[in-house]
Amino acid sequence: MIDQLSARRDVSRPPPANPVRPPIGRSRSLRLPILLVSLMLVIAALFATGLVLVVKARGGESAEVAGSSPVASEPAAPGRKTLRELTPPGMRIGSAVDGRGLSLDPAYSTLLGTEFNAVTTENAMKWRNLEPLPGVYAWPGADQLVEFAERHGQQVYGHTLVWHSDMPKWVSPEWPAERIRTELRDHVTEVVSRYRGRVWAWDVVNEVLDEDGSLRETLWLRKLGPGYIADAFRWAHAADPGARLFINDYGIERRTRKADALLTLVRDLRRDGVPVDGVGFQSHLAWDEPPRDLSRNLRRFAELGVAVAITELDVRVELPATPEKLKRQAAVYRQVLSSCLAVPACVSFTVWGFTDSRSWIPGYHRGYGAACLFDADLSPKPAYLALVDELSRHAGTTRAGPNPD
Ligand code: G3I
Repeated sequence: MIDQLSARRDVSRPPPANPVRPPIGRSRSLRLPILLVSLMLVIAALFATGLVLVVKARGGESAEVAGSSPVASEPAAPGRKTLRELTPPGMRIGSAVDGRGLSLDPAYSTLLGTEFNAVTTENAMKWRNLEPLPGVYAWPGADQLVEFAERHGQQVYGHTLVWHSDMPKWVSPEWPAERIRTELRDHVTEVVSRYRGRVWAWDVVNEVLDEDGSLRETLWLRKLGPGYIADAFRWAHAADPGARLFINDYGIERRTRKADALLTLVRDLRRDGVPVDGVGFQSHLAWDEPPRDLSRNLRRFAELGVAVAITELDVRVELPATPEKLKRQAAVYRQVLSSCLAVPACVSFTVWGFTDSRSWIPGYHRGYGAACLFDADLSPKPAYLALVDELSRHAGTTRAGPNPD
């Protein structure tokens, strides 16, 4: 543009004959710049349209990357009730909480607070994270979640006191049984006492059974014998008599040998007066394997007089997550919820993370992902809409029958 101006200012050339129509030479000299300008305008316009199109396309792509297809997510319809608003009275609908999300991601925290009336500590209350050194406790992560829950009228489910994984390095398998027992008792007592009256339920022991239904070969079993399970419940009960105490496991959603073994274990513990109040069904499921018979399985445990709970539900999808797969995923989520709603003793329904951006699945199940209710952009997926619909269908229906809660 500037060159042209300099050309125009070339006084050496005589002024135009016809003032209206500049003489040819000058008009010839103007035509080119005008041409170029209009060309650039066309290009710019094309570029802008292209950009808009790409941005639109990218919206879908990020979901794609995170495994859910563009059709999967739809913006929350204004006025649509949230999961917690639709949940029957006395029932908890919750999510495991990733501490980093809570601290660093306001949108994550907002959705957590509006959709769920209960939360579970995904990692903050595991022994390794809570007591990194003997008797030295790192409470901030757990405190932050409990305080968040209290500010949002949510109930806290404490996960987990005794587990064979995530143990602090300082707990040595070389120690004599008495030392192991003392450390375990002190840890359970210390943690449950700190949150007395602020945690409605605890996973006292987690994953104590092996796939064949036998007691899992852990440091606790080797050193303390099978009695460590009953002891852990008694220590937790003594520290907070008001908390509900759960035994939690996976691979028990169907009527498997492991589920049968757990039924026997719980029956025997309660017969021996051990304060086992509930059984947690983790429910880490796959999109193409809906859990058959779940409600009958939950019911037979409830007949022992315990509460039952879906504690860690996610439904992993083999990537890429096509609309068809997400539809089947939604059906699995719906089936698990309807099974829980059908059993009054099912007092809590918790998903193991609610957004695909903060899920353990991709890291552990190669080639799988998109396991949660919301995609990586926090947009609701068919699975979320299925839960909303299932709860809406149940609205106003009373959950008849024994509720040990
Ligand atoms: O926080 C550290 C971070 O500082 C470090 O940079 C990073 C790299 O090593 O690790 C981070 O800790 C990870 C933690 O998740 C937080 O992301 C641990 O390594 C990792 O082992 C831990 O994985 C958790 C896993 O349990 C083991 O504790 C998953 O998030 C959690 O979803 C998973 O949950 C379990 C339940 O507790 C029990 N049932 C099965 C379920 C799925 O495995």
